[in-house]
Amino acid sequence: MSGNGQRYNVGGILLERPFKIRRLGHFGFNIEKLEEARHFYGDLLGFTVSDKADFSRAPWFPKDLAGEAQGYFMRYGTDHHAMVLFSKKIMDQRADRKFVPGITINQITWQCGSLREIGDAHTYFQEQQVRLQRVGRDMPGSNWHVYVYDPDGHTNELYYGIEQIGWNGNSKPRALYYRGFQEKPELPQMSEAAEVAEAEAKGIDIYGGNRPAAPNGGVKYDVDGVLLPRPFKITKIGPVRLFVEDVGRAERFYTERLGLKKSEESDYKGARCVFLRCGAEHHSLALYPTELRAALGLSAHTSCLSFGVELANYAQLREAVGFLKASGCELLDLPPELYPGIDYAAFARDPDGHLIQLYYYMEQVGWDGRVRTSAERRPVRREWPAALEPLADTYTDQVFQGPFG
Ligand SMILES: [Fe+2]
Repeated sequence: MSGNGQRYNVGGILLERPFKIRRLGHFGFNIEKLEEARHFYGDLLGFTVSDKADFSRAPWFPKDLAGEAQGYFMRYGTDHHAMVLFSKKIMDQRADRKFVPGITINQITWQCGSLREIGDAHTYFQEQQVRLQRVGRDMPGSNWHVYVYDPDGHTNELYYGIEQIGWNGNSKPRALYYRGFQEKPELPQMSEAAEVAEAEAKGIDIYGGNRPAAPNGGVKYDVDGVLLPRPFKITKIGPVRLFVEDVGRAERFYTERLGLKKSEESDYKGARCVFLRCGAEHHSLALYPTELRAALGLSAHTSCLSFGVELANYAQLREAVGFLKASGCELLDLPPELYPGIDYAAFARDPDGHLIQLYYYMEQVGWDGRVRTSAERRPVRREWPAALEPLADTYTDQVFQGPFG
């Protein structure tokens, strides 16, 4: 039994928890070198700033930091944000949220299937004595959410209904933020269409939000037929790789409380590594013992081994490696045993020392839950071939839904 023995009706389906995580929705870091990170994640990797963070109205906000950049909400698709960068200096002063030293992950954020699931998740976490951080609806982004801590102190957010950015790139204007919630909302709530109609009736300029500036760096790369400032396009985010104090304890939290499923575990030089999924992807979250960090020579300032970004295809991944090296990024290889289910991949270091894993393919797990054996997987060659043979699950996951840029 992985739940608490009870069953919950989730949209007419009886589950062990009153919610079902469907995918990794977004992720964030608290960053020391914020402007360098904006360049790395923005100009180099291609995340677009949807809105700048502005905490200056929060009661805890340190007035002496008023002039400083506070952070960026960034996207690669239509979700208002997929990646957030917040100033570590400012986050360290928050009175309403405490970050454990050594945790530079701002949030690991999971999308559920409905608003009802979020409220029911909050009740469930209270009953199960999971450490809650807050519940409500934050602006910008408009997603309805509940925040909990994992046993190591990583913030996990479950949400429904993040703001979608459309063809013209406009985010919601600040004047619409009055629909934010600092507490659990009563259900049902008005639809977003009704919110927009209400705002117009109040005379609010619904087009008054942020629109990104034209891309930096010139538009000179033909990315499978579209001209972009870099020779690749991020089409998905995740997996998140975490160093944890006790792998078994973290595994129990993420499987029993959040409902992730174990795809496989591996032994890497005596370290037990666990790979967890929420949908058909081999893993969206991986757990590693903290002792492994020094053995791998990774930065001791963070519990994040890496954060993944999937590129549209293998050819773009090859181009990305050359582009990032030429742009002055440090790239490194990590042993493939640390990421089963992915074949060709590269790790780039962000300005604070976090690793970003670039890859193009993830093994898809079907109805019977079986994963490939290592003998059935594609061997990764030291010299990357110009082209690869397809696998049974190549290009079978959901394609990126909009234009590349
Ligand atoms: Fe979030």
